Amino acid sequence: MLAVITGGSRGIGESYARQLAARGYNLYLVARDAARLSAVAREIRATHRVLVEEIVLDLAQVDGAERLYAEVRSRRTVPVDVLVNNAGFGFHGEFADMPMPRIQDMLYLHLVTVTKSMRLFLPEMRERRSGTIINVASVAGFLPLPYISLYAATKAFMISLGASIGREAQAYGVIVQTCCPGQTVTDFHATAGFAEPRYAVGGVQTADEVVSDSLAALDHPREPLVTGLRNRLLVQLLRILPRGLVLRTAARHLKPS
Ligand SMILES: NC(=O)c1ccc[n+]([C@@H]2O[C@H](COP(=O)([O-])OP(=O)(O)OC[C@H]3O[C@@H](n4cnc5c(N)ncnc54)[C@H](OP(=O)(O)O)[C@@H]3O)[C@@H](O)[C@H]2O)c1
Repeated sequence: MLAVITGGSRGIGESYARQLAARGYNLYLVARDAARLSAVAREIRATHRVLVEEIVLDLAQVDGAERLYAEVRSRRTVPVDVLVNNAGFGFHGEFADMPMPRIQDMLYLHLVTVTKSMRLFLPEMRERRSGTIINVASVAGFLPLPYISLYAATKAFMISLGASIGREAQAYGVIVQTCCPGQTVTDFHATAGFAEPRYAVGGVQTADEVVSDSLAALDHPREPLVTGLRNRLLVQLLRILPRGLVLRTAARHLKPS
């Protein structure tokens, strides 16, 4: 059994790597930081006695998905059983101040690479009538969020695309899960430029808790999968509260100090 995990070197992706290795999966882990990737791979190999290979690749490129697919195919001909599209990053601040290169990276990484990766890996899963794709979105994708505007919009795209493709794939026994964590303790907030991680309106989870919820839900598919009870309650509440009130409250809460 083989799993490909993007962003497998840290945070939520690293937890997917450890938990899938514990279930006996061989792994291809993808990230840019070669040293960090190789340290994680070495440790998982020693602990779980599975094959772990590193793919050092920047997925925020227009052909990131094609490069990933070609790299996986060039190494082995065995099928990919699980694809986890997890690599991602945030940006905290006014959209008008967001540097153009970060806008481009976010669009490529969250939209283009995730979409093309599904298009590349899905047909083989459909043919085999088995396989799982997990896209890591966010509860931020359930509403427009001032000051993390582009991030929230890209995650909304992932939630929408995952739901419809998941329904198509179901007919072939293939699972597409859109995993939506709330605030999770990782390097994410530091990378996004949050002075402190203060937007925990739902619950705060560890990366291990997010991944346990995600993998457990594969046996009882729910689309999208919101991890953690408090986050699920929050998403229900957002569905019934007036949009204007939610936007005003979110803007007050997220405005950089
Ligand atoms: N933490 C949260 O509160 C939270 C909440 C909801 C959703 N999420 C989502 O969860 C996912 C994982 O985030 P995390 O919290 O685990 O953050 P993290 O600790 O910062 O990890 C991000 C991972 O993505 C990789 N990555 C980033 N840019 C990449 C690129 N251009 N090419 C290849 N790999 C790249 C990083 O490795 P390199 O830097 O070495 O490339 C790292 O392995 C993201 O999609 C994020 O949006 C996080």
